[in-house]
Amino acid sequence: MTDVDTVQDEQSPYARVGGGAAVRVVVDRFYERVMADPTLAPYFTDSDLTNLKRHQVQLISHLLGGPVSYEGRELRDAHAGLDITPEAYGRVVEHLVGVLVEAGVPDDILASLGETLTAVQPDIVSQQS
Ligand code: HEM
Repeated sequence: MTDVDTVQDEQSPYARVGGGAAVRVVVDRFYERVMADPTLAPYFTDSDLTNLKRHQVQLISHLLGGPVSYEGRELRDAHAGLDITPEAYGRVVEHLVGVLVEAGVPDDILASLGETLTAVQPDIVSQQS
């Protein structure tokens, strides 16, 4: 007999959060918050948000084990020259984690995404506070 818990454990985090549709909702909400944050919006003045969201959806989907490839630039190249401070990085992470929590993403998935976000911080932050 199949154990329901086992089946759930075998699903990818991507499937468990609701797949592509759920990731797109989270990414849309995330950029709404980022653009509504006066300390962050200026970083994005020259950005093509449509492209950026598409790449962010791909990256998060990929990190969650979804069948999606990331087609954007290396994170270090994408953020080079933007003079991103540790404070700005912290606020972006807060907004991202905030929308993930509100979307009901389970704690184990949050913890593993959190580890990845910590690991990429040196590629993104280019300014000491
Ligand atoms: C917290 C972890 C972060 C992740 C995982 C992340 C991820 C990404 C991704 C996937 C892209 C798209 C790259 C491409 O299209 O080639 C991107 C671009 C960008 N990110 Fe981030 N980012 C993070 C933090 C930040 C922070 C803290 C800021 C600024 C406060 C920021 C500002 C930008 C901007 C302005 C772009 C667009 C650059 C351009 O249009 O050339 N990001 N980011």
